[in-house]
Amino acid sequence: MDLLQSFLNLFVPVVGFSTLLILWPALTFRNIVMRMLSTVFEESMRGKIVLITGASSGIGEQTAYQYAKKGAVLVLISRREDKLRTVADKCIKQGAMDVRAIRADVSKEEDCRRFVEDTVHQYGRLDHLVNNAGVLQGFLFEEAQDTRAFATIWNISFWGLVYPTFYAIDHLKRSKGRIVVIASVASWLPQPRMSVYNAAKAAAFNFFDTLRIELGPRIGGITVVTPAFVESEMLMGKHVNKKGEVEWREEQRDLQVGPAPVAYAEECAKAIVRGAVRGYRREGIVVSGNDKEYSAEASKEEVGDTKQVIDHVLNERVHL
Ligand SMILES: *[C@@H]1O[C@H](CO)[C@@H](O)[C@H](O)[C@H]1NC(C)=O
Repeated sequence: MDLLQSFLNLFVPVVGFSTLLILWPALTFRNIVMRMLSTVFEESMRGKIVLITGASSGIGEQTAYQYAKKGAVLVLISRREDKLRTVADKCIKQGAMDVRAIRADVSKEEDCRRFVEDTVHQYGRLDHLVNNAGVLQGFLFEEAQDTRAFATIWNISFWGLVYPTFYAIDHLKRSKGRIVVIASVASWLPQPRMSVYNAAKAAAFNFFDTLRIELGPRIGGITVVTPAFVESEMLMGKHVNKKGEVEWREEQRDLQVGPAPVAYAEECAKAIVRGAVRGYRREGIVVSGNDKEYSAEASKEEVGDTKQVIDHVLNERVHL
């Protein structure tokens, strides 16, 4: 037994290391080739049916425009119908084949069932489900006055991704469609004042990784996007407060970050749609400048360090 043990102690690390040495470059090479091929075989979105939740602002809005430019048919979901109409009109101008705006709350299962069924009823299929809707938290855990605040965040930022997926899954199997998930680096890089939000994002991240294994090639695939810092209403003052209410102050936007947000959200949306049509499993998005209007340096100066900005915005909100 001792002899076997000694033999294994010596043998296993050597074999393991050699295997790694061979496999690592081989796998890296394979990944590079796959990525290159995926740029050649991009999915054409012309006439495809794309459903986007949280589409009235931020990343969701910009993602809608990117799909519109590719000639997709868009179904836009948000609680705010007036803003959604404006986005829908812009989508048509940008080249969308058709657009429908549906007022719904992703935290309500019945709403999710309805908008998925409405989509398939009207267009006969569903090709991309973009689970984007989410709401930020704006308080320390110990500041919470009511545990209902946790459920509000969780219902939107976790169940709000799961419910639409539940009702869409059969249609996605039929069309070999794709699920696109806007998670966040918060999935693995926690920020203060966002404890429940971070947890919801981590849960969503693991949920969709599991779903990818369960469904395998029976659907087109799942793209999980983890934006690092994308200016959106979340960082413009929209969040769940410690009483569990969604608070909002749009005039904060210009005060906080000037015109930069749209550039970031747009840049992020481009990466999301690129990742989706190329069939990437993961698309990480980090802070970078918009080459047209903002150089990386300028952006950094304008918006400051990610953590600072988040802390700043949330502090402002918490102490108002
Ligand atoms: C969260 O969702 C559940 C299930 O729909 C519901 O019973 C509960 O009231 C919701 N909580 C909040 C605070 O929205």
